[in-house]
Amino acid sequence: MASKDFYKINAVREKFAGRFGVIVAMSGSAIGLGNMWRFPYMVGQNGGAAFILLYVVMLLLISLPVFITEYMLGRRSRSNSFRAFGKLSGKKVWNFAGILCILTSFCMMSFYCVVGGWTVKYMLESFTLNMAQGADFSIRFNEFISSPVSPIAYTAIFLVLNAVIICAGVRKGIERFSKIMMLVLFAIIILVTVRSLALPGSVDGLKFLFKPDFSKIDSSVMMSALGQSFFSISIGGGAILTYGSYVRDSENIVSSSAVVVGLDTLFAIFAGMAIFPAIFAIANMNGTIPEIEAGPGLVFITLPYIFQKMPLGGIISVLFFFNLLMAAVTSSISQMEEFVAFLLEECKLKRVTATIIASTVYVICGTVCSLSFGVLSDVSILGNSIFDFMDKLTSNVMLTCGGLFIVLFASWILKKEDFIDELSNHGSLGIPLWLLNVLFILVRFVAPVGIIAIFLSNIL
Ligand code: PFF
Repeated sequence: MASKDFYKINAVREKFAGRFGVIVAMSGSAIGLGNMWRFPYMVGQNGGAAFILLYVVMLLLISLPVFITEYMLGRRSRSNSFRAFGKLSGKKVWNFAGILCILTSFCMMSFYCVVGGWTVKYMLESFTLNMAQGADFSIRFNEFISSPVSPIAYTAIFLVLNAVIICAGVRKGIERFSKIMMLVLFAIIILVTVRSLALPGSVDGLKFLFKPDFSKIDSSVMMSALGQSFFSISIGGGAILTYGSYVRDSENIVSSSAVVVGLDTLFAIFAGMAIFPAIFAIANMNGTIPEIEAGPGLVFITLPYIFQKMPLGGIISVLFFFNLLMAAVTSSISQMEEFVAFLLEECKLKRVTATIIASTVYVICGTVCSLSFGVLSDVSILGNSIFDFMDKLTSNVMLTCGGLFIVLFASWILKKEDFIDELSNHGSLGIPLWLLNVLFILVRFVAPVGIIAIFLSNIL
């Protein structure tokens, strides 16, 4: 099954330099738009602290085990997501799963890079926020996203940023960029949070975010929490598998996974504490009830308005959108790298050529999604615009099914000994066997049953 060619590829595969590099690259993939616009909004709307509790339980029982498994499959196979499943099982037929992974990355990038483009535009604009004085942010935003050329041009700029990093390679590009950006991301989000909390009346925002309301928890909220956790920690689509394939043999997969998932959740909670206290403080000042938009509206309509009203808002705005952009880039490069690794190894292309091809494909997919706010606004798929359809398809269906497949494959098709062997670095790490056994039970039974149950209860 594994040809000589394959071993040749394997020999030249790049690796992350060390533990810090692995953690920042994977956290970079995880921390993204999902943390800064989706999570805070979902928490606020779906029961505050009750949602956070549910989210953490889902993480521990389902999503973290899936993360560890996807990471483990990558390192054990040392191949791109297309080849990994076939190689590990010894049966080429399993490569179909790899095709699904690559497909997921297309669907995901088709809308992600469009929002990345909007972020570029808003970051540049936030330098000149005063020009928007008195403007209606909702009209401005809608005019912008529905125009035929401008959002596509920004999407292309966003992809060029990605391409430059990917061209530089795994260590000099992805790892180096993530190392700098992760520190910057955390520094800025803490700064913005402190500013936001210092505004008079901000405590109402904290109440909105954290006040537990268990009555809001139902099966659809559980599905949203699961979908959000998969999206947020980048699992189910092969990105973590691809990064895992660049990790050294000596790395402790279990502990580095726990750190990455912990950092991702911490960042999302910080983002909530940066956003809602500011919104409530400004609303209190104006004597109005805060308008909390769903999805992109929160970041691109509500926040620019808030920044305009708040003391030092100009600087905070620049910092916030810079952070959003960098978070988006460190995430989307993991998607692009997955496709590039496939082109490099399966089509024997050079890194630069592969990156140009990947970027071109994403620009085309992104254009279709972007136009769904304009000339293609009449096109509807199952009652959704193309953009919304891609978002829902990826987050609620493809990543979840991908995650389900990954745990089933690792625990039913592969051998338990392989699972334990890889996670314990051939027994050298000294992780207690009972812990690995518990993990295996989570991967083999709890995660699949949980995913299927939540999926079904939501559909029924
Ligand atoms: N985790 C990213 C976010 O929260 O924005 C999104 C993401 C990136 C999902 C890469 C999946 C992926 F493979």
